[in-house]
Amino acid sequence: MMRTVAAVAVAVLLAAAVAAEASELKVGYYDKSCRGVENVVKWHVARAIKANRKSGAALVRLIFHDCFVRGCDASVLLDPTPENPDTEKTAPINIGLAAFDLLDDIKSAVEDRCPGVVSCADILIFAARDAASLLSNGHVHFDALAGRLDGMHSHAAEAQQDLPDSTFTIAELIQNFKRKNFTIEELVILSGAHAVGVGHCSSLRARLTAPADQILPAYRGLLAGKCAKGPDPIVPNNIRDEDAGAVAAAIPGFLPKLRKVKDFLDNSYYHNNLARIVTFNSDWQLLTEKEARGHVHEYADNGTLWDEDFSDSLVKLSKLPMPHGSKGEIRKMCRFVNHH
Ligand code: HEM
Ligand SMILES: *[C@@H]1O[C@H](CO)[C@@H](O)[C@H](O)[C@H]1NC(C)=O
Ligand SMILES: *[C@@H]1O[C@H](CO)[C@@H](O)[C@H](O)[C@H]1NC(C)=O
Repeated sequence: MMRTVAAVAVAVLLAAAVAAEASELKVGYYDKSCRGVENVVKWHVARAIKANRKSGAALVRLIFHDCFVRGCDASVLLDPTPENPDTEKTAPINIGLAAFDLLDDIKSAVEDRCPGVVSCADILIFAARDAASLLSNGHVHFDALAGRLDGMHSHAAEAQQDLPDSTFTIAELIQNFKRKNFTIEELVILSGAHAVGVGHCSSLRARLTAPADQILPAYRGLLAGKCAKGPDPIVPNNIRDEDAGAVAAAIPGFLPKLRKVKDFLDNSYYHNNLARIVTFNSDWQLLTEKEARGHVHEYADNGTLWDEDFSDSLVKLSKLPMPHGSKGEIRKMCRFVNHH
C-alpha cells in the first residue's frame, strides 16, 4: 500500500515537472537562464530576411495567427500527427502560413546553446518582433516580453473559429477582435500589416467582381489578370510591390510609386486603402464604418504614429494568454509536443 502511494506521488511530481502553468511575462526573461538568446534569434531572422524578405512577412503574420488562437503558445507550429491529424496549421484559414523551417533552425540553434530552456512560443515572438523591425528599418520596435510556455493542444477547428476571414464584414471583424479584447482602433492598426507579404487569389476571389466603389477597376483588372494564370496564384498584398509590367499595363500612373525594396513595413496600406487599392474585402471594409474609417485617415496622415501604435498592438497581441488553467512545457522541437 505505502509503495503504491509513493509511486503515485513520484508520478505526480514528474508530471508536474514536465507540464507547468505559465509564469508572469517579463522583458529579459532569459537574461540569466539563456544569455544572448535574443541575439541568436535576431541573427537568424536577419540572415533569412536578407535572403528573402518574404520570410519576414510570414513571421509577422505568425504572431497574429498564433496569439489569436489559444494565446501565444506556439500551437500554430504543431505538425499534424496520427494522434492529432487536424492541428491548426491544417485549417483553411491558415492558408499560406510559412517560416516554419526558419523557426526550426532558430530553435535548434537555441537548443544547442541552452537545451530545454527557451519556449517555441517565445522564439516566435522574438522572431516576429525582429522581422517587423527589420522590414520597417527599425521604425517598428519594442521590447519583447517572454516567459511563455508551449501549449499541448492545437485544433484546426479553433483556428477556424477564432481567426477572421477575408470575406468578413466590418461588423464581423469588429466582433472578432472584440472577443480578444481588441478595439476598432487596434483592428485598423493591425490590419496595416498587410503592407507586406502576399495572398492567394482564393483569398480575394470576391474582389475580382466587386463594384467600382469597393475596388479601383484598373486594380481589379490587374488582379483578375494575374489570378487567371493558374489554379491559385499568389499576388503581393501591396500594389507598391507589384510587377512593373502589370502595373504599366493596368495603372501606369502608379509606376513611380513602385519600390525597389519590396515588403517594406510602413503606413502605405492606409494610402492604398483610401485609393481602393487593397487586396482583401476585410481591408476595404475598414472604410465602411465611421470610427474605423477615421483611423484609416489618421494612419495615412501620420506614418510615425502608425509605427508606434503598431508596435504597441503587437505587444498587446503577444500578451494573449493560453486558456485558463492550461498546462505547458518547453518543447524540444517546435513541431511536436514532447513525449511524456
Ligand atoms: C483583420 C483581419 C485579417 C484578415 C481577414 C486577414 C487575412 C489575411 C489573408 C486572407 C491573407 C493571405 C493568406 C493567403 O491567401 O495566403 C493574409 C496575409 C497576411 N496577413 Fe492578414 N489578416 C488579418 C489581420 C492580420 C494581422 C492582425 C496581421 C499581423 C499583425 C496580419 C498579417 C498578415 C501578413 C504579414 C500577411 C502576408 C503573409 C505572407 O506573405 O507570408 N494580418 N491576411
Ligand atoms: C477580455 O477581458 C475580460 C474582462 O477583463 C476577461 O475576462 C477576458 O478573459 C479577456 N479575454 C481575453 C481573450 O483576454
Ligand atoms: C505624428 O505622430 C507622432 C507620434 O505620435 C507625433 O509625435 C507627431 O506630432 C504627429 N505628427 C503630426 C503631423 O501630427
